[in-house]
Amino acid sequence: MRTALITGASRGLGRALARELARDGWRLVVDARDADALSAAARAIGGDADPGNITAIAGDVADPAHRADLVRAVDGGLDLLVNNASTLGPTPMHRLAALPVTDLADTFATNVLAPLALIQDVLPGLRERRGAILNVTSDAAVENYETWGGYGLTKAALEQLSNVLAAEEPEVAVWWADPGEMNTDMLRAAGEDADAAPPPEEAAAAFHRLVTERPPSGRYRAADLAGTR
Ligand SMILES: NC(=O)c1ccc[n+]([C@@H]2O[C@H](COP(=O)([O-])OP(=O)(O)OC[C@H]3O[C@@H](n4cnc5c(N)ncnc54)[C@H](OP(=O)(O)O)[C@@H]3O)[C@@H](O)[C@H]2O)c1
Repeated sequence: MRTALITGASRGLGRALARELARDGWRLVVDARDADALSAAARAIGGDADPGNITAIAGDVADPAHRADLVRAVDGGLDLLVNNASTLGPTPMHRLAALPVTDLADTFATNVLAPLALIQDVLPGLRERRGAILNVTSDAAVENYETWGGYGLTKAALEQLSNVLAAEEPEVAVWWADPGEMNTDMLRAAGEDADAAPPPEEAAAAFHRLVTERPPSGRYRAADLAGTR
């Protein structure tokens, strides 16, 4: 049975992608900080599947002890790591001129350092099983949207981390992928018109194709993946 570790799966894109993989019979390890929301999501993700196939562990990806729990839970072997959990940083979002640098350090801890630490922990197993890593990034990594600079810096760092990792780890598929705007709590918290954005299930279906078709390591956009086949 294939196993995936998906961070931030209590709602939004992470939950939608977990549902797709559960339907395909994957064993899943999922997390989020809010334990109640995570338990409810795990039940919904599982659907008719064996509840034993989903391990939900509440915690913060920036916490090394929590990451150790996640890694222990995939001890039997991992085929896919999805670094999806992410923070915008303080909201309302600030222009760079007023961005508190201490808050930016926290944003980096969640969006860059935690994904890298998880990657380091699971890489030996992923190499052995010729597994894959999906790092969820954003168009804010490459565009110059005002007030999105703090968050965008972290996503740009995650992209370059992925780019170098792909060169260094030929046995592992490394995808860094922009889901596009989605109707989720994150977009709402950014003050955008989230209701006008597509549901996260659309990007999840596009990212599911990365997993089933295993294209070469590289940067992908959900909008492009949805348009191929
Ligand atoms: N929404 C968009 O339009 C958009 C556009 C481009 C890229 N993205 C990216 O897509 C990904 C998913 O975003 P989304 O819109 O689905 O977000 P979301 O609806 O806010 O969901 C985020 C998930 O991550 C969890 N999470 C957040 N911080 C965490 C932490 N420190 N440790 C563990 N879990 C954490 C949340 O649960 P808890 O709060 O309970 O921890 C939740 O389950 C993110 O990487 C985001 O940057 C989103």
